[in-house]
Amino acid sequence: MKILVTGGAGYIGSHTCVELLNANYDAVVLDNLSNSSEKSLIRVKNITGKSLEFYKADLLNKKQIMTVFSDHKIDAVIHFAGLKAVGESVSMPLKYFHNNIIGTLNLLDVMNDFNVKNIVFSSSATVYGDPASLPITENFPLCATNPYGRTKLMIEEILQDIYRSDRNWNIALLRYFNPVGAHKSGEIGEDPFGIPNNLAPYISQVAVGLLPRVSIFGNNYDTPDGTGVRDYIHVVDLALGHLKTLPKLFTNPGLVVYNLGTGFGYSVLEMIKGFEAASGKTIPYKIVDKRPGDIAACWADPSKAETDLGWKADKTLSDMCKDAWNWQKKNPKGYR
Ligand code: NAD
Ligand code: WQD
Repeated sequence: MKILVTGGAGYIGSHTCVELLNANYDAVVLDNLSNSSEKSLIRVKNITGKSLEFYKADLLNKKQIMTVFSDHKIDAVIHFAGLKAVGESVSMPLKYFHNNIIGTLNLLDVMNDFNVKNIVFSSSATVYGDPASLPITENFPLCATNPYGRTKLMIEEILQDIYRSDRNWNIALLRYFNPVGAHKSGEIGEDPFGIPNNLAPYISQVAVGLLPRVSIFGNNYDTPDGTGVRDYIHVVDLALGHLKTLPKLFTNPGLVVYNLGTGFGYSVLEMIKGFEAASGKTIPYKIVDKRPGDIAACWADPSKAETDLGWKADKTLSDMCKDAWNWQKKNPKGYR
């Protein structure tokens, strides 16, 4: 089976490529490297001892996508490629709509032309907005609170319409909670350009001495210690969720939706303590104002994925922190 992985050089994509190759799938990666390095793919080959095909190509360029489909008989696409920084999407909405929406439309058009109608889409827990209760199940109401989230919601709706028009499509919408951690080898991991937006890479960079302290965005939320609570999921568990989704897709299920989370929520302070334990370092922090748009707490009900796919995240917070630290320590400046 040959899988096209768009955005395969990125954080979640590279970890998924490792698991695909380990499971004897053939992988073809399409990535424009706008937020990643080709080195991640060299590391993927080192970890697995297997090769994959890489196209430095842009989803905004339909001809480049067509070349990949002409060169390979693709069985399914895992579509990670997209821009993902929430704050940047607020200041540059057109960039996000253009890249994420037009890129996806181009991909879907080419898939349709080549009669490849199996796709796994990287959606996000952001499509649940500020949930009325917890844990979140897949049938909760959907709403977007920023342009990035709106691209996820729009693409979900586009895929729903495509499925309604043509029942030959098989579409899995995977709603990720908060991916953290790295492959246990420490060879691949999260490598944000510039100052990290997300908590885990920020803490790692403080631990390794690149940044002075963590700013905690508010400590008077209605949570046990007052700091924000999230469902952090180990990126390898997340990657394995895709591996469990593929066989499901090949049973022609139509359109399916799954939460990929652990079902547990941890606070910002618990994350900092976890990193301190993993790194043996003290992580300085200060409490600052809440970040606009942040919600107090969010965690998944992941039971549907367990029932339907036989998938369950099994790595602990300690695993997430240890593996993130191992990657950061071995690669203080990421792939650079
Ligand atoms: P990432 O930025 O590391 O990976 C995305 C990859 O897509 C990058 O390698 C980038 O170069 C590539 N890309 C972007 N636009 C492209 C284009 N037009 N053509 C070709 N390649 C392009 O991000 P990630 O954390 O691995 O996220 C992967 C997917 O999962 C994204 O769609 C993201 O929105 C989604 N997601 C991520 C998170 C998270 O917290 N990391 C949470 C939920 C959902
Ligand atoms: C986690 C917690 C912050 C940074 C984002 C996107 C979401 C999804 C995952 C893609 C919150 C707190 C953070 C810091 C802090 N991405 N925090 N200091 O906001 O849950 O989700 O990434 O789909 O769409 O919105 O993740 O890691 O930014 O924040 O105190 O420097 O850490 O307030 O409680 P978030 P995050």
